[in-house]
Amino acid sequence: MLRRKFIAGNWKMNTNRAEAVALASAIAAKVGGSSPVDVAVCPPSLYLEAVGQAIKNSAVGLGAQNCYHEAKGAFTGEISPQMVRDIGCTYVILGHSERRQIFKESNHDINRKVLAALGAGLTPIVCVGETLDQRQTGKTAAIVREQMEGSLAGFSAEQMLKIVIAYEPVWAIGTGVVATPQQAEEVHADLRRLLESRYNSEVASALRIQYGGSVNAENAASLLSQPNIDGALVGGASLKADGFLAIVAAARPNGPEA
Ligand code: 13P
Repeated sequence: MLRRKFIAGNWKMNTNRAEAVALASAIAAKVGGSSPVDVAVCPPSLYLEAVGQAIKNSAVGLGAQNCYHEAKGAFTGEISPQMVRDIGCTYVILGHSERRQIFKESNHDINRKVLAALGAGLTPIVCVGETLDQRQTGKTAAIVREQMEGSLAGFSAEQMLKIVIAYEPVWAIGTGVVATPQQAEEVHADLRRLLESRYNSEVASALRIQYGGSVNAENAASLLSQPNIDGALVGGASLKADGFLAIVAAARPNGPEA
């Protein structure tokens, strides 16, 4: 099964409005109206509307970086999946390690958010990944499996087909230390085995698993050439149009020059 590669930029809490619009416009201009690779940008939620305008005539998709699990109500400071959809998003990143670590989100919290996001018609990008200590003590597979089973508990095969997973080892995020293609591939292949055993071979072969953690224009091609790496969730390198576009180019099925 040929999975379409998917490159998403997670801008985190960066850019001002003008910078966000300029970055999105530059990406949209280059990607154009159709692309052999799925591309999305995930700006800060305050700029979703402006960025949505900037990319509206292009194949670039829009994603939020988080949402709450309720549709509306007295939840000061939160945004609902329905609002995220209403503003024009297709995607929402959920369970990013920064949300897990800094904002203490549990697998249960993430599970509720993923369910709510699916209910609102969004494609959740669900993040999992181990810390350096967990890797060094041989716990990578157990941790990543536990996060995936906890965050995605109770979903049907049909629901799983609407989800994207991002494997983001915490030690590789924002550090410049990228997982080797072999390290990443090993985890991706293991996650696919888990999907096969928990669901079925259709889910295991169709579901896309992005890698995230210090992906840049130089290392993207070798990561993306691995059989189970279906794209990238890019942080720092997504804040410059040229660097991000080079990663998109590296994901093209026939190579960057095609
Ligand atoms: P960096 O690419 O800056 O390491 O961030 C990765 C990430 O957290 C994407 O969600």
